[in-house]
Amino acid sequence: MSKENQTKTGMSRRKFLVSVGSLALGAVGVSALAGCTQTEKPSAKTAGDAATVTYPWPYKKLDVETVRKKGHQGYYEGACCYGVFNAIISELGKEVGAPYTTFPTQMFKYGEGGVAGWSTLCGAVNGAAAAICLVAGDAWEDLVNELMAWYENNPFPSDISNQYAREKAFLVKEMKSDKTLPQSVAKSTLCHVSVTEWCKKSGYKSFSKERSERCGRLTGDVAAFTVDMLNRHFDKAFTPVAKISNEVQSCRSCHDKGGTIENTRGKMNCMPCHDDPHKKPKS
Ligand code: HEC
Ligand code: HEC
Repeated sequence: MSKENQTKTGMSRRKFLVSVGSLALGAVGVSALAGCTQTEKPSAKTAGDAATVTYPWPYKKLDVETVRKKGHQGYYEGACCYGVFNAIISELGKEVGAPYTTFPTQMFKYGEGGVAGWSTLCGAVNGAAAAICLVAGDAWEDLVNELMAWYENNPFPSDISNQYAREKAFLVKEMKSDKTLPQSVAKSTLCHVSVTEWCKKSGYKSFSKERSERCGRLTGDVAAFTVDMLNRHFDKAFTPVAKISNEVQSCRSCHDKGGTIENTRGKMNCMPCHDDPHKKPKS
């Protein structure tokens, strides 16, 4: 490497790190930290560097099955949301290096159990959506749409995750079961509906070790799906296939944007919560 190149690399790397630092603060919430960071007036240099933060972050194609295993493993380190996000970001760290290697993926522990156990948005989906938005730029919405629709309709855990667990094909020393676990379709991206549909289908309790393990395998499956989709997107080979069902489309035609009543919003499947209230009662 020539001397000029070395200097260049050294400088741009330092700049990069400064920028990443600012970005990470941004993610946590600038207002909360403003007091600390601004006690010293930022030099013109620092301010200039902060302005060079680039978005989206660079993506390199990843191995889908490596990410599936790592997601499953990560579930036992920091639950579903962390599991997916960390699998993708740490693998990008290996392929790309900084800024990925500087990301405190632990921040995604908040998503556990549908955000601190509140059972709202499935943490695996939440972590995947964050990773997508970090790398995909303006394409994020199409990709997240696809993810959400796939999650509602896909049977979890996948055959391949069941197979890995049975064969103990990789080391998850905390892994709570090596059985083939029953599959269920979540019908919803909500942790509550997803978990309880599975409990109904499988007969296991919601705090059983088998349910944990089911969510561990699901975490791997969501990470794998996400990376496969990103790989195709960056190969310009991704075409969205997600479609809102006719039933939900019909509900939306009256209740959503521009409808006669326009009193709801959302693309989620309405039916797990509302039986069609407009059907005439059977006599
Ligand atoms: C043709 C228009 C139309 C369609 C299609 C439609 N709704 Fe409605 N919906 C209404 C109207 C009108 C009301 C009454 C609103 C009011 O009284 O404020 C209503 C009321 C409701 C209510 C209120 C509570 C109740 O039990 O009456 C729910 C829940 C609801 N709709 C859900 C749905 C769902 C879910 C679908 C799709 C399966 C759907 N709607 C499809 C027009 C529609
Ligand atoms: C996770 C469960 C859930 C899902 C899924 C869901 N809803 Fe609801 N919805 C609710 C709850 C809870 C309320 C509040 C009910 C109440 O206040 O009685 C509500 C209220 C409504 C109301 C107003 C009812 C009223 O009393 O006037 C409408 C209309 C409605 N939902 C339509 C929809 C449509 C359309 C979809 C699908 C796009 C949908 N909902 C999906 C849970 C859900």
